Amino acid sequence: MLEIEKQEYMNLKFENFVDTLEGEDLLDKTVRLDEVLSSGIMTGNEALGMVTMNKVQPESDIREKDGQIHHVIMLGSNSYLNLSTHPQVMEGARKALEQFGYGMGAVSNYAGITDIHKELEGRIANFYGAEDSIVFPSGYGANVGIVSSICGKNDVIINDAANHASIFDGCVLSGAEIKVYPHRDMKGLERILSRLPEEKTGRLIITDGVFSMDGDMAPLDKIVELAEKYNCRIMVDDAHGVGIVGPTGRGTAEHFGVMDKIDLHVGMLSKGPGGLGGYCAASKKVIQYLRLYARSYFFSTALPASVAGGLNEVFKLLETDNAGRKQLWENTEYLKQKLSEQGFDIGHSQSAVVPVMIYSEPVLFEIYEKLRRRGVYVNIVTYPAVRRKECRLRLCTMKDLTFDQIDRAVAIISELGKEYGIIK
Ligand SMILES: Cc1ncc(COP(=O)(O)O)c(C=O)c1O
Repeated sequence: MLEIEKQEYMNLKFENFVDTLEGEDLLDKTVRLDEVLSSGIMTGNEALGMVTMNKVQPESDIREKDGQIHHVIMLGSNSYLNLSTHPQVMEGARKALEQFGYGMGAVSNYAGITDIHKELEGRIANFYGAEDSIVFPSGYGANVGIVSSICGKNDVIINDAANHASIFDGCVLSGAEIKVYPHRDMKGLERILSRLPEEKTGRLIITDGVFSMDGDMAPLDKIVELAEKYNCRIMVDDAHGVGIVGPTGRGTAEHFGVMDKIDLHVGMLSKGPGGLGGYCAASKKVIQYLRLYARSYFFSTALPASVAGGLNEVFKLLETDNAGRKQLWENTEYLKQKLSEQGFDIGHSQSAVVPVMIYSEPVLFEIYEKLRRRGVYVNIVTYPAVRRKECRLRLCTMKDLTFDQIDRAVAIISELGKEYGIIK
């Protein structure tokens, strides 16, 4: 065992366990990490390994690692529209499960997909008014595969600093030059674009539509203007926008009236749609290219038919009755209003993701624990997802929450906010 004084652990952070230190065996960092995690000092990872005991619903039981069970109001699920448990969606999944079994046994290009998958790709393309779409078995894999296949060593990718990790991982894998502008800063974006060498003609601006940690939206109207001025293509990852924002729930591009200006409409099937997977809707030629060059598609087993079957019903609901979006928005506005009235800093959310800024990691970790004990589940966000000094609680609303549940949750969060001097 490596000997590290307890006190020293206080200074050890996530990034201290990434590299093998001089003279260490390759796996020594796993031993160092274990010592910290089992030392009793709070690291924010205490909750890892807890189990949710119910399907996604507004109140749930959570079993902690130590076996204790807490009954909590659920403000930590990305299944914003409660589609994971919608009867029509579950029936679609059940039928496909009966017909095709529980796994596909092959990658998509080699007989891993069925007419159910093809129907899903058709529905997604239709949803965006695009020529075609491709469905990946994972959202993370979708971003990695799309970015790393479309871009290569001769290209430049320009990212919002708050883009999702999977986008940055795809950028690194692509070998392209990577540029980053401060979050939503259009002057910063133009500064980068105006300095790009003329010969760099392969240019892609990538942005989340709704940002996963802040819940705000990328100013796509401005991004489109700049992309036209500087000859760039645009990719939008609207993981948290699809089904939620825009006049008919078609996402951030619809909100800004620029649906036809986005070259690659990317989204996840795991958040609002409540299932699993990721997609890209684009021209037929782009999709054909991705089917052959996106390695996370080509070399990865297809999405189970049951998930695709459920998702077909999801898109029917999104196309017709908006899947209860109005109710979700009422809940979201209510939650934001109640938190603001209490004096919390909730950033500039324009979606179902509502940050509650804490700004101190030790406080964040303690609040996270206490919230569960007192009956509220929320997620916490700190480094590496955001800068440590911008650490926060991340609340997500759901369509099926009641105002009473929101009131009770806000009362508990406020009680702790006062105890820790975050609000008066
Ligand atoms: C913006 C964004 N893109 C991509 C992903 C990855 O999606 P998935 O969880 O479906 O792999 C996430 C999920 O965390 C996300 O928030």
